Amino acid sequence: MAERILTGIKPTGQLTLGNYIAVLKNLKQQMDRGECFIFIADLHALTLPIDPEVLRQNSIDLAAFYLAAGLDPKRSALFLQSSVPAHSELNAIMQNYLYMGELSRMTQFKEKSAKMKENAIGLGLFAYPVLMACDIILYDANIVPVGEDQTQHIELARDLVNRFNNRYGNILTMPKAEVRKVGKRIMSLSNPTVKMSKSDPKGDIFLKDDPAVIRKKIMSAVTDLGSEVKFDEENKPGISNLLTIYCALKDISISEAEQIFANYRYGDFKKAVADAVIDELVPFQERYRQIIKDKSYEDVLNEGAKKARAIANQTLKRVQKAIGLLIV
Ligand code: TYM
Repeated sequence: MAERILTGIKPTGQLTLGNYIAVLKNLKQQMDRGECFIFIADLHALTLPIDPEVLRQNSIDLAAFYLAAGLDPKRSALFLQSSVPAHSELNAIMQNYLYMGELSRMTQFKEKSAKMKENAIGLGLFAYPVLMACDIILYDANIVPVGEDQTQHIELARDLVNRFNNRYGNILTMPKAEVRKVGKRIMSLSNPTVKMSKSDPKGDIFLKDDPAVIRKKIMSAVTDLGSEVKFDEENKPGISNLLTIYCALKDISISEAEQIFANYRYGDFKKAVADAVIDELVPFQERYRQIIKDKSYEDVLNEGAKKARAIANQTLKRVQKAIGLLIV
């Protein structure tokens, strides 16, 4: 069977190099492997307060980023989650098959809600993984490329598929998370023990950063004691993170990079990492700007939604029938 690949990104905050490495960098290879359904998780963006204009702008940006990364609309469907109503309809069904206990154990929910008052935690934040499971299930996706932080959600989607199929027969396709060997978790440049995330301007490299800003951020990245460029996450988290970034962008292994940088001092090594990031992002940013200018994402999103709706509606019908909803 040809692979069915699905992944999404939330249009919140500014996209980072972590998002790029986890998803955008590999888009072209994914399209060579099978049929791709790539989307903008705009309903998921509502799980924390967001300004409407920011959400709109971020969604456009994300569409342009996907295209700038090489997404070919002929070989894949690029769409907004909200333009395929089946996501919400399946969500209303599947929320009955995932339970409070398992949802409250999700690390991301625990982390995000820890800083909030109970009265401010929306039900959508708690039920986030239900909708995420629906995103995947609707397209019979068997491969879900993500960073490490999303694997727990995909495990839960797998539990759901098992549970559902045991009860109703072989209705849903079993998905599998696919994380990169190198680059599954890019860390903050200012604190390499925490993940690079969309809300940490000092430790992040944003995809829209100017080359000079990128260079400055990398040159001032926190490094470790010693002078050797060696991968050692425990004792050299800063250097290990920079090595990971370099390897993920150049598609080489850690040991290959260690050989390249065997005689480098930290400063020269950082320069090489900055060059690698700039070489990758500058042409990407040029394509992005052109796409924003010519608005080519509009037709692409329209066509993508049509393709996505056709597939998603079939799955929804299959589920509705299986559980006993009357289809008239
Ligand atoms: P989001 O928008 O937080 O992140 C998008 C993708 O980037 C990965 N990622 C990272 N990878 C490596 N290092 C990092 N520092 C880093 N930060 C983020 C994420 O793992 C993700 O792959 N819930 C998802 C969006 C979503 C989705 C889905 C994904 C909704 N439905 C269905 C796959 C399938 C999210 O919030 O990703």
